[in-house]
Amino acid sequence: MRLNAWLARAGVASRRGADELIKAGRVTVNGEPGQLNTFVGASDDVRLDGRLLAKQQLAHVLLHKPAGVVTTARDPQGRPTVVDLVQHDARVVPVGRLDADTTGVLLLTNDGDLAHRLAHPRYEIDKVYEVECRTRPSEADLRRLRDGVELDDGPTRPARVRRLAGNRIEVVIHEGRNRQVRRMLEAVGNRVEHLHRSGYGPLALGGLEPGAWRELETAEVERLRSMTRDSPGRARGRGRAGYGPG
Ligand code: URA
Repeated sequence: MRLNAWLARAGVASRRGADELIKAGRVTVNGEPGQLNTFVGASDDVRLDGRLLAKQQLAHVLLHKPAGVVTTARDPQGRPTVVDLVQHDARVVPVGRLDADTTGVLLLTNDGDLAHRLAHPRYEIDKVYEVECRTRPSEADLRRLRDGVELDDGPTRPARVRRLAGNRIEVVIHEGRNRQVRRMLEAVGNRVEHLHRSGYGPLALGGLEPGAWRELETAEVERLRSMTRDSPGRARGRGRAGYGPG
């Protein structure tokens, strides 16, 4: 693992902050000054200002994000952040982002490798959204959403879309473009009144209250890993959250 990632996982700083510490010559690896391209293994002795650092355990957290909370680490407008909500010993950061008004499933972790894989569209992790639309979408609108609509940053990939009731629909996408679901609804002449993410791959909220969080079960972490594994027989990222049990 690269030294900056190792320092981030040890809870010392963000990766960028770690780069600054390395450049300032404050980090040693086995007694030698660390470099930006230094790789660190399990048995290496890493020190900051001469103090031995212990590697931090991997942490994976599922937060029920409430409305009005931003997904960035710091907000210029001073709004609360998801990182404020999750008071964890480990420095966990969100995987992807939800708009401030969006509620629901948000994964936070210090497992940079897994986070990086989950964010990659090739693994096709299902993101399941319950959408309350301003007006009742027609069947033709639902078909257009399924087939893909044109957005200013390109067409959307095919989606699974079904009506839940009246003006409430469920949209399942693999992409994670900025404000994607809101823009998809705008592309068919509608508007999102409320957006809730009910599933992320195999993860669902269960009884978790808005603002509450829990550690993932080992089996949940393993499932996410198996979904993002590159072997030919790997399980594809089609978690069935929102489509029955499991
Ligand atoms: N799509 C959106 O438009 N907003 C979100 O927060 C997530 C997906």
